[in-house]
Amino acid sequence: MKVRFAPSVLSADFSRLGDHARQAREAGAEWLHFDVMDGHFVPNITFGPLVIRSVRPVSDASFETHLMIEKPERYIEEFAAAGSDRILVHPETCPHLHRTLQQIRATGKSPGVALNPSTPLDVIEYVMDDLDGILIMTVNPGFGGQSFIPAMLPKIRRAADMIRRSGRHIDLGVDGGVNVDTIANVVDAGADLLIAGSSVFAGFGTVKQNLDELAACLAPDGAPGA
Ligand code: DX5
Ligand code: ZN
Repeated sequence: MKVRFAPSVLSADFSRLGDHARQAREAGAEWLHFDVMDGHFVPNITFGPLVIRSVRPVSDASFETHLMIEKPERYIEEFAAAGSDRILVHPETCPHLHRTLQQIRATGKSPGVALNPSTPLDVIEYVMDDLDGILIMTVNPGFGGQSFIPAMLPKIRRAADMIRRSGRHIDLGVDGGVNVDTIANVVDAGADLLIAGSSVFAGFGTVKQNLDELAACLAPDGAPGA
């Protein structure tokens, strides 16, 4: 199975965000992941659409915007206009999830959902036709550099099953604690879009060395580009 990387800029050096975004693309990452946090849904505060807009000209990667904010429906159009290709919302913040996914689709962008570790997959059972991406949080959202929660592996497997049964192409992302110790297990469980922040931007090597090291942990047919 082909997997792709979506480095999360949360762990990038914000004083040279453009350089880091460029390096990730040059190293072969097809996606770039932007973590938007509001200090309400999650304890941390990060950035808004302006930052995504400013990085847009330096990378032709697909931009995935992970909205960890209350009432995300207020900001969908702004994040779409800023250059997001996919917008992920948390069902925990969306009482009218179907409507919010339609709202994203109406902007011409790709809709997705991100699920907290404790949120069951059942919440998306009836919106599978409206999704292009499912993101399984393998840490509690809010911070980079946390430890992977192993109990999420069966959840990834079940999500992969749901996708197979849907007959649609839906990216299965995993977000949180993806590193050289966990990456093989998440791909084995069925993930095909690997979000990684600290192991890419705050690792020991350059962005390219860090991404190469992650890819080297995968079987040859799982490596990006295979
Ligand atoms: C956490 C964010 C993640 C974060 C992952 O709330 O959604 O995207 O950047 O960071 P690492 O890879 O360091 O766990
Ligand atoms: Zn994220």
